[in-house]
Amino acid sequence: VKAGIGYVVPHMGGHGLEEVFEAVQGPGDLKPDSLWYQIYNIGARKVAEPAVERAWKAGYRVLVVTIENPATFHERVIRGGMRALTSGTTLSTLPHLPQMIARPGWSARYLLAGWRHSYSNTVLDGRILNARDLQATPSPTFSWDDLEWLRKAWAGKIVLKGILREEDARRAVDFGADAIIVSNHGGRTLDASATTLAVLPGIVKTVNGNAEIILDSGIRRGRDVMAALCMGARAVLWGRPSLSALSFGETGVSHALAMLRGELQRNMAALGCPSTADLNGSFLLSEK
Ligand SMILES: Cc1cc2nc3c(=O)[nH]c(=O)nc-3n(C[C@H](O)[C@H](O)[C@H](O)COP(=O)(O)O)c2cc1C
Repeated sequence: VKAGIGYVVPHMGGHGLEEVFEAVQGPGDLKPDSLWYQIYNIGARKVAEPAVERAWKAGYRVLVVTIENPATFHERVIRGGMRALTSGTTLSTLPHLPQMIARPGWSARYLLAGWRHSYSNTVLDGRILNARDLQATPSPTFSWDDLEWLRKAWAGKIVLKGILREEDARRAVDFGADAIIVSNHGGRTLDASATTLAVLPGIVKTVNGNAEIILDSGIRRGRDVMAALCMGARAVLWGRPSLSALSFGETGVSHALAMLRGELQRNMAALGCPSTADLNGSFLLSEK
């Protein structure tokens, strides 16, 4: 919000959704538009419904419903130790001890941050769930039927994240989604899924202005932002670069954002287009 961009607070984050909302500095009246809350169907309705209520109470007004990730942990993530480190037991971290010793800085920060073993926003009957509990969740994604009760439970805007097929884009519009996010979860769920830019034109045609279209997965340079906007996306999300930059703290993220902005401005100037609002298909060779 301080940088003038939005942020999506994840359901499976290590910090409570209220804590994040309160901690974010920036114009208060911009917060509900700029800070969105994201939800999985972890633990089904009895976990998702109170989480949604909590988010509304905290001040969130835009709900991102992630539908592209039907498995909580993927092989690469398990190998990296994420499940072990968040499984709720100190014992389960033991196999990763050599990795932790090899990275003392990371380990110190992990310990100082409270040795977080659980996801503060996934609560069942008053108990915060951890990775072991989440493994018991058959599928953390939503079906179209689930979306119907979610629509009733949430009075704000709904953004469906993870649309890759025109058929699903059509259903999202019929469902009344305010926006869709064309996303393949960065190829982290199915590493052979379609690239988002490749499917964007068909989805733009299908949606036909009936919902906002946002795109993620692979936005790395200012040029990527321009390509997505030229092809009909209204905005992009930026995931892993910001996470990598975060290893240098807020300074790292600010620096990475400044680089992205700088690239975008230089490329826009080179294109001879003064405003991102003016980007359209006429700037693309393939659309001529
Ligand atoms: C470590 C990590 C955690 C993620 N957690 C979530 C999440 O909790 N909810 C969600 O909707 N997407 C999550 N994603 C997916 C991102 O939102 C995004 O779709 C993906 O990273 C693709 O964008 P990128 O190529 O810019 O990283 C996560 C991605 C990474 C790398």
